[in-house]
Amino acid sequence: MPLVPRPGIEKAPLYIPGSHHVEGVAEPAILSANENPLGPGQAAIDAYHGAADALFRYPEGGAVDLRAAIGKRFGLNPDQITCGAGSDEIITMLTRIFAGPGDEVLYSEHGFLMYPINALQVGATPVKAPESNLTTDVDALLAAVTDKTKIVFVANPNNPTGSYIPSAELKRLVEGLPDNVLLVIDAAYSEYVCKNDYNDGVELVDKYQNVVMTRTFSKIFGLAALRLGWVYAPPKITELLNRTRGPFNVGVPAQIAGAAAIADLSHTDKSISHNDKWLSFMTTEFENLGIQVPPSVGNFLIAGFGDKDTADRAYNHLRSNGVIARQMGGYGLADYVRITVGLEKEVRLCVDIMKEFKG
Ligand SMILES: Cc1ncc(COP(=O)(O)O)c(C=O)c1O
Repeated sequence: MPLVPRPGIEKAPLYIPGSHHVEGVAEPAILSANENPLGPGQAAIDAYHGAADALFRYPEGGAVDLRAAIGKRFGLNPDQITCGAGSDEIITMLTRIFAGPGDEVLYSEHGFLMYPINALQVGATPVKAPESNLTTDVDALLAAVTDKTKIVFVANPNNPTGSYIPSAELKRLVEGLPDNVLLVIDAAYSEYVCKNDYNDGVELVDKYQNVVMTRTFSKIFGLAALRLGWVYAPPKITELLNRTRGPFNVGVPAQIAGAAAIADLSHTDKSISHNDKWLSFMTTEFENLGIQVPPSVGNFLIAGFGDKDTADRAYNHLRSNGVIARQMGGYGLADYVRITVGLEKEVRLCVDIMKEFKG
């Protein structure tokens, strides 16, 4: 008898990460994974080096110091924070806890691909709700809720579209959901957002028992290689997460560097200023070239080329000139190419290549 995996595992597509290499180019501009081009701050790098002496020890399983540092920075109770190997691991744990065969996991049309992948892995059915103007549509999400729905994932801001919904809309979503449906607010890019009507969702976690907010160290904190994320959740859900996670799911270097990174406000400020300046520059330059750029509040944009063939040619042209962007077919956005805001020279290079492409 052959081995048989659990239902759903073989249906889940492989996640294809942004590539980091181009044949024949020694140092390509890697603008494919929304990493912070400035890297981590010096405090995090020093802390990481300091972890070398402790490599033979198991980590402190509850990430106590790291959770305290996160709590201090964001004014949150550390007892309601759980850390994971990237917010990917948190998404996986939440899906395992709340969904299984016969259940539905709801997300918006161009939402982050790990939501349907995790749903399929546990044997649940991923369900997409349509978006309006490449933005999460609360009414469409609420209309798609059935008695099988167990989880709703909303990335705010969303990757790859870069759009966001105001806090009042998120609140309307929670209030329209049955109490037995978990709302996951994925705030991976929240530090980049400078909009008065936006917030990360903490107040909804404090108010409702069925809301959690996930965050990551992979974006503005520049620690994608360490795999570190966290979730702020009501006490009951935190208890379930602690039962589900591996006892040592976050390594020592990640805990130490993460705690240093989160306390380093000046690096965050520097990263935000860099992003504001070069996101706006790239957007304006692209628009001047007739490339459509939906408004983005993240550290990336999607460039619209009107049809798949032109988008593919633009992607390949960037690539053959040493810039790695990301194709968006997997997100139902084959007419677009996603580009992360890189260093100044990378952004300028990108713009120059696009000028040549359009010229
Ligand atoms: C919206 C969103 N959520 C979660 C993640 C996962 O981040 P990580 O697992 O690195 O914390 C990403 C990464 O690109 C993302 O874009």
